[in-house]
Amino acid sequence: MSYSRILGTGSYLPAQVLTNVQLAERVDTSDEWIVARTGIHARHIVDAQDKTSDLALRAAEAAISSAGIDKHEIDLIIVATTTPDMLFPSMACILQEKLGLPSIPAFDVQAVCAGFIYALATANSYVKSGLAKKVLVVGAETMSRLLDWNDRRTCVLFGDGAGAVIIGASDQPGILHAKLAADGRYQSLLNTPAHIADGQIQGHPYLYMDGPAVFKFAVKALSDIAVKTLNEAGVDKSQVDWLVPHQANLRIIEATAKHLGLPMEKVVVTLGQQGNTSAASIPLALDHAVRDGRIQRGQTLLLEGIGGGFVWGAVLLTF
Ligand code: ACO
Repeated sequence: MSYSRILGTGSYLPAQVLTNVQLAERVDTSDEWIVARTGIHARHIVDAQDKTSDLALRAAEAAISSAGIDKHEIDLIIVATTTPDMLFPSMACILQEKLGLPSIPAFDVQAVCAGFIYALATANSYVKSGLAKKVLVVGAETMSRLLDWNDRRTCVLFGDGAGAVIIGASDQPGILHAKLAADGRYQSLLNTPAHIADGQIQGHPYLYMDGPAVFKFAVKALSDIAVKTLNEAGVDKSQVDWLVPHQANLRIIEATAKHLGLPMEKVVVTLGQQGNTSAASIPLALDHAVRDGRIQRGQTLLLEGIGGGFVWGAVLLTF
């Protein structure tokens, strides 16, 4: 078997919804400003008793069910998250225990909003090299717990959720090409620069972002990597059926689609009701469009994302 394919998708959103109008009662903002600048209308917020791993578990169970496999066939778990339950053990270990799959390898990937792309590219390498046959790849976040709810520049942008896929070995074409990039020189533009020392939190423990600088970099980086990924795979942009981008800002998504010459009818957009769910946003969007019937087997998908670091990447695949 020479390919790795997506066998199934799943996702989970917490029930609690926070609208822009409700947010404007807490912080100096407005529905009009948020919608005009970002395209976001509402976001889901995790219940107080839930941890990121609980969201991950529900998304993983949905993906296992959609793939039609027995969970014991999974031989590797990779979780992309910026908001793990704790510093260690990893989310992947916690999820492995919750799924009842002792002894299979499990590890986390930290690439913020590009985390799912990094995790998917890693899973692809494991499957293609024969090191794994069925991989559970999850992107799960509780970004609401990383936000300063008095900072209107960031708290309006993010939401919570989880998405998952099962990747399996196949003789049918699946993942065609994956391309990753990083540039640590930009780490000061988007970060949460805190750590623990001497039993105390040291540094700023909330998400910080220089929005306009991130915006500018994101449009160029995403446009460039999309073109490079297509060129290296020998696939023309006209062959792309769906762009499934990281859901950070509608204006970034529109600019990237325009650069690729893709009409917005070919772009999956979920951020309006979900906000930016970081590593969860791409698998959430993917699952959404699979379940509502837009994405069909055999179609060509281009997934892409960017996050703090900067880290960015794209995956081209036949669904
Ligand atoms: N409500 C009302 N006014 C606001 C708000 C708000 N929520 N936030 C900022 N403003 C004000 C600012 O204070 C500023 O006012 P001033 O001119 O008086 O100083 C004005 O609005 C314009 O602010 P900008 O930051 O320049 O607004 P911009 O149009 O750039 O939009 C935004 C900000 C939405 C954050 C945008 O820059 C963006 O989306 N950036 C990219 C985000 C992104 O892609 N992140 C990706 C990765 S996320 C990750 O990795 C975790």
